[in-house]
Amino acid sequence: MRILITGSSGQIGTNLALELIGSGHDVFGIDVRENTWTDAFPYRIHDLTERQTLTGGLATLGLPDADLVVHLGAHAKVHQLVREPQRALDNAVMTFNVLEYARQTGLPIVFSSSREVYGDVHRFEEYPEQAADFAFTESTYSASKIAGEAFIYSYARCYDLPYLVFRFSNVYGRFDNDLQRMVRVIPLFTHSMLRGEPITIYGGRDKTLDFTYVDDCVAGITRGIEALAERRVTNQTINLAYGQGNTLVRCAELIANELEVEPQMTLAPSLLGEVTRYVADLSKARELLGYEPKVSLDEGIAMSVAWFREHRATHPEDDVPVRADHEGALGAGQAWKTAAS
Ligand SMILES: NC(=O)c1ccc[n+]([C@@H]2O[C@H](COP(=O)([O-])OP(=O)(O)OC[C@H]3O[C@@H](n4cnc5c(N)ncnc54)[C@H](O)[C@@H]3O)[C@@H](O)[C@H]2O)c1
Repeated sequence: MRILITGSSGQIGTNLALELIGSGHDVFGIDVRENTWTDAFPYRIHDLTERQTLTGGLATLGLPDADLVVHLGAHAKVHQLVREPQRALDNAVMTFNVLEYARQTGLPIVFSSSREVYGDVHRFEEYPEQAADFAFTESTYSASKIAGEAFIYSYARCYDLPYLVFRFSNVYGRFDNDLQRMVRVIPLFTHSMLRGEPITIYGGRDKTLDFTYVDDCVAGITRGIEALAERRVTNQTINLAYGQGNTLVRCAELIANELEVEPQMTLAPSLLGEVTRYVADLSKARELLGYEPKVSLDEGIAMSVAWFREHRATHPEDDVPVRADHEGALGAGQAWKTAAS
């Protein structure tokens, strides 16, 4: 197959592209910035927020023909979007532009949504897909994914566009330690502990998330691509995660264990917009795609830390202080959840 991937310089995009190439598919990427991890596939530098012209939009770029598009391009960090809500609108515009391209060229689309669409409601042990209730939109990032999903569903109804929506959760693993661009919790903890710096667990001891090793996420997307291309599975919204809750404290302890350091942890209240408990119900992914995640958090952290160390050894210039991305325009008092929120 010929697969167009937006957001192809990002963590999931890069891992997915390499996996697809390895399985004999052709990949072409679009991203607003260069891929700093690999030059194994061609891509076009393009800002997907650029307004569509009435005369063709993305179709005017002369992209190579494709059989399917995987739309991963987005501003992907919750706190950054809470701080800069314009970026949430950007996400919706990107999705619209990619959808218009899919409509014009008749391409089925795979869309990367998020467990953030469930909000922070603590109503279920595990979250089945139908539990999403958009009255509980937790952050501007969640709103951007809900808007994206809504656009997809409307295009399916109005224009017969075949789709799969995947809701990911805390994807971690190789190609995620570009901390000056984007601060994700696992590379941040690894980076800080290696430097002998303290870490802060926002959301406290009970904060429980469903961490997904990137190879599991990519395996699920790949199954989805094949099923959608063959029209075996279409127009479905599917959770893709590991299916097990782990506290952030345990995650930090596993990293410390790998690094053989004593972690200096501080517990703090949740940040605005954060989900503090989520465990995916994977029944639908199993049933429709035969998806079976393989990498436990223990194994995944060991592989991630090993990859981080290997990468850091060849990039000593990255060993500098990192600013967490909730630090910024919002005053300190505005960055935390209050009882009312
Ligand atoms: N990683 C996770 O835990 C997770 C969880 C849920 C959902 N998602 C979603 O999955 C997708 C991929 O996530 P990721 O972790 O690889 O994030 P990422 O930030 O590593 O990749 C996203 C890519 O989109 C690109 N992009 C941003 N703005 C763009 C624009 N205007 N034009 C073109 N490209 C643009 C970025 O440059 C980046 O390379 C995102 O849509 C994200 O919201 C990720």
